[in-house]
Amino acid sequence: MDAHKKLTIGLFGFGVVGEGLYKVLQQTPSLNASIKKVCIKNPGKARNAPASLFTTEKEALLFDESINVIVEVIDDANAAFEIVSIALRNGKAVVSASKKMIAEHLPEILQLQQETGLPFLYEAAVCASIPVIRNLEEYYDNDLLHSIRAIVNGSTNFILTKMFEDKLDFQAALILAQQLGFAESNPKLDVEGYDAVNKWTVLLNHAYGIVEHPDNILFTGIQNIQLSDAVVAKEKHFDIKLIAQAKKLKNGQVAAFVLPQFVKLDEPLSFVKNEYNGVVIESGFADKQFFYGKGAGSFPTASAVLSDISALRYDYRYEYKKLYHHKPNELTHDYYLKVYISFDDWKYIPREKFEWIEEWHADADRKYLIGVVHVNQLTGSNWWRENGTSLILSVDPIIDNLDIINLKKRSLELAGVI
Ligand code: HSE
Repeated sequence: MDAHKKLTIGLFGFGVVGEGLYKVLQQTPSLNASIKKVCIKNPGKARNAPASLFTTEKEALLFDESINVIVEVIDDANAAFEIVSIALRNGKAVVSASKKMIAEHLPEILQLQQETGLPFLYEAAVCASIPVIRNLEEYYDNDLLHSIRAIVNGSTNFILTKMFEDKLDFQAALILAQQLGFAESNPKLDVEGYDAVNKWTVLLNHAYGIVEHPDNILFTGIQNIQLSDAVVAKEKHFDIKLIAQAKKLKNGQVAAFVLPQFVKLDEPLSFVKNEYNGVVIESGFADKQFFYGKGAGSFPTASAVLSDISALRYDYRYEYKKLYHHKPNELTHDYYLKVYISFDDWKYIPREKFEWIEEWHADADRKYLIGVVHVNQLTGSNWWRENGTSLILSVDPIIDNLDIINLKKRSLELAGVI
């Protein structure tokens, strides 16, 4: 496409993001892009746009030759994948915000783009308004990207902020996140970490060339965090955030997960409040860089969709440089994590699973320990997220296999065991 070509859009979905895009496009006439038809599921619902714009027939968009761009912002991942596949096979460029669909179908999506040679852009799928996919894709060389730590889910960050700073209870904070259009239609996807791990699956591809199913990435959400955990965090001068993290280990493999984590009050991610997201990238010579912006909501998400639509005018496509032009990195579960675990009863804690335990706090009603576990002790079972058990990672939680022997010795010496 050239910069003056008119973009005629077929839009799937008119929810929080779809309606946001409709309004944003009306305010950006210079883009020379207009929506010809919108396909919706529920024709009975009142919409803030002329009735003639809407249809329930997906074919009316997918097989209309005058439509050269399909924008897909629905939340049914299977239907979204079907739409994307048909659109690309019919010669249309596609823009999407469906993180679940992209994460679950990554290998097929890569294949479809190779077969058709057409652009499929999805900046809005991860961290909404923050242009993190394009930055990872274009700016960072594979060998130099040491680690990424990020807050990628706006709703959980909003809930944690409202609970711990405004003293709202969990349910009230969640309802507010729903009312403001941040939460998924099934909020369990936010609260239990599914949305964050889907986004992390997508970013791991653009950061490290990793192609994994979200099921293979260690994750949980904020569902088990208790007020007593926030009290401990405060005593230690930490915040609690749901953090997605990836780090290149000394052997070149990549450790990656999404778990609640203690965050020092003076580090950038601690400043990320409410529905904002943040990404800290650590790379070879630049050291740390911090990206910050709204991670959920109608206009912030629509702004990323708009930027993708605009990029189509100069034929921008993801090249998947880390996957195709470099030696892709592999995901590993062979490393250790330093964890804080709180619980009601010792009987739920399999002590033999810990490499070592550094602190025990057994006197209060709500007990906790701080110790080190191999990741296989977490991926293979659920003991750490059942029976009211809550796991929160320590600050700087990843311990490389190559460091474990020395650290274990030092920790046992400090504890007076040897
Ligand atoms: N439910 C998502 C969130 C929306 O809260 O981050 C943006 O992807």
